[in-house]
Amino acid sequence: MATNRTFTMIKPDAVRNGHIGAILDKICAAGFKIVAMKYTKLSAEKAGEFYAVHKERPFYGELVEFMSSGPIVAAVLEKDNAVADFRKLIGATNPAEAAEGTIRALYATSIGENAVHGADSDENAAIEGSFHFAGTEMFA
Ligand code: CMP
Repeated sequence: MATNRTFTMIKPDAVRNGHIGAILDKICAAGFKIVAMKYTKLSAEKAGEFYAVHKERPFYGELVEFMSSGPIVAAVLEKDNAVADFRKLIGATNPAEAAEGTIRALYATSIGENAVHGADSDENAAIEGSFHFAGTEMFA
């Protein structure tokens, strides 16, 4: 069943480049409500666990190193059709292919350092949200 929540992270590159405010502004302007949010840093172990689905991919080591290289903003967002609408808002994984005006087209620098993460299904949105937040840290 479709849910109305998605999960996102503003990645270390976008944090380092000073884009937290601009990205949150676009997310809110697009009609997403913040259900949970934290400024945090993943250990290499936690980043590896979060991206375990990509363990066999050639870029896994690089991905884990990058995602644990600095602070991130993790958030659960709510809106009708949240997963699909959020993926539209952020654009393609590779910023070179991201549509004009999308968050990745504006703020990402490469396929590896692509500014934001967006859950790819309702099921993964729930799993990823629970990875970062306890139920008591989410406010509907
Ligand atoms: P994300 O949406 O967070 O999910 C998996 C991440 O793996 C993806 O964004 C990219 O940052 C990263 N990724 C995907 N493909 C590549 C690649 N070819 N090289 C490096 N990183 C990649």
